[in-house]
Amino acid sequence: MPLPKAELHLHIEGTLEPELAFELAARNGVTLPYASVDELRAAQAFEDLQSFLDLYYACMAVLRTERDFEDLADAYLRRAAAQGVRHAEIFFDPQAHLARGVEMGTVVEGLGRALAASEENHGVSTRLIMCFLRDESAGSAMETLELARPYLDRITGIGLDSAEVGHPPVKFREVYEAAAALGLRRVAHAGEEGPASYVTEALDVLGVERVDHGLRCMEDPALVERLVRERIPLTLCPLSNVRLRAVDVLEDHPLPAMMEAGLLCTVNSDDPAYFGGYAGDNFDAVRDRLGLDEDRLRELARNSFLASFLEDDEERRAR
Ligand code: HPA
Ligand code: ZN
Repeated sequence: MPLPKAELHLHIEGTLEPELAFELAARNGVTLPYASVDELRAAQAFEDLQSFLDLYYACMAVLRTERDFEDLADAYLRRAAAQGVRHAEIFFDPQAHLARGVEMGTVVEGLGRALAASEENHGVSTRLIMCFLRDESAGSAMETLELARPYLDRITGIGLDSAEVGHPPVKFREVYEAAAALGLRRVAHAGEEGPASYVTEALDVLGVERVDHGLRCMEDPALVERLVRERIPLTLCPLSNVRLRAVDVLEDHPLPAMMEAGLLCTVNSDDPAYFGGYAGDNFDAVRDRLGLDEDRLRELARNSFLASFLEDDEERRAR
């Protein structure tokens, strides 16, 4: 039996397996720039974050209808459940769909149908986190938040993703303030390719409760000390870091040192259809190649629930 765990860093568009991409392309009359599943898989040799993002945005062109988003999320939840995931906090990228003429309602209603049935069908509880594309303008992020207002009963929080370097957290100060005023939880990608200072800025300027990746915090000992003291969770994605070359090989990953330093680390899959594995595969990889023992693996699983937004909303309102 795989260890029960929560997945806190998962882009639903990054769960689009090549087989499903071709099925949806045929269903919707969309042409992918690859002739076959094998050709698409061969294109998954990435140099860096941007080379991945180019393929990620190209493939999501096949997602057009509510049913497409429902099928995508349902396929992910089935796979995740088989690897021990009991709770999933799922990112989605509405701007990438709006830009193709796919409306917010299509995305949220479609994902929402799969999520609403997930506890019964897969034994996985869920939350939805809306991400803003940091290489788009702050104004576009604010418009996206406005478009999401009718659906906020289904959206727990906001995040920040896409090309990091040159797009510091401060660019999104106002939209994070507006989201906080609406009662939304706040997370952001920081310190994946960007510097440790982006992690500090995400905490100080955006008020994030959790940092996605955060790997490069290790370059700033004072920041590490602060993250430990404030118990700020980091959602690490080891297989993603290897495939996007944040680390050369998994054996070089700083996860053991980060745990040793007392950081609240979690292990997640990021974009499993592109990076070679789901949550359980990431757990297996850090066991086999980083030598983490059973106690450390249990600590990671426990951290994933501690770091989640599972606590009930009543309790939060009472605080
Ligand atoms: N980093 C930044 N943006 C992303 C990622 C990622 O790993 N996956 C999907 N969007
Ligand atoms: Zn990510």
